[in-house]
Amino acid sequence: MKALVAFGSKYGSTASLAGFIGEELRGKGHEVDVVDLRLHPDPDVESYDIIVLGSPVFVGKWTKEARRFLESNGSQLCERKVALFVSCSDVLFPEKIGAGRKMYLEDVAASIPGLRPVSLGMFGGVIDFSRYGALTKALLAGVGTKKQLAGRGIDVTNPYDYRDWEQIRSWTRAL
Ligand SMILES: Cc1cc2nc3c(=O)[nH]c(=O)nc-3n(C[C@H](O)[C@H](O)[C@H](O)COP(=O)(O)O)c2cc1C
Repeated sequence: MKALVAFGSKYGSTASLAGFIGEELRGKGHEVDVVDLRLHPDPDVESYDIIVLGSPVFVGKWTKEARRFLESNGSQLCERKVALFVSCSDVLFPEKIGAGRKMYLEDVAASIPGLRPVSLGMFGGVIDFSRYGALTKALLAGVGTKKQLAGRGIDVTNPYDYRDWEQIRSWTRAL
């Protein structure tokens, strides 16, 4: 198969996650293009058998590049095998996983009439307060993220990488 792994990312963790998915697919003998939608917003969907599309979640939403790709290619995507994934901190909170999966994946898929993804992946990402500007820090403090993470015993003074590579590998293999 020829696979497109297209992603949005702001701080880079979804980019390396997408790269990992691409490598896994390549390892299984598929031809793979991994495309950063910030740099190449309009890959030719028609030339792929499967499209894996991913985005981090910021304040409940996908990045604008990933949303734009989904919206502007909606009808072609409906005719192809599509898998969607997100990287997000809600995976760290068991009580938030169900709602997160619905909001970030099921509702996003349902926003494109006729789109029936073969798989939806909800993965972890990276939280790194040292990289956020004052406004972002204030926003995260306002919604209580820092406190919630600290409450889980997570040291928020250092970058925290909570991607589960085994989970991502087995999701990719199942595709
Ligand atoms: C300002 C901000 C808002 C965020 N909002 C959410 C959110 O609403 N839900 C969630 O599950 N994760 C949220 N996250 C966590 C990010 O999705 C996570 O850090 C992701 O790995 C970032 O991806 P990137 O490194 O590719 O940019 C937020 C992170 C930041 C910095």
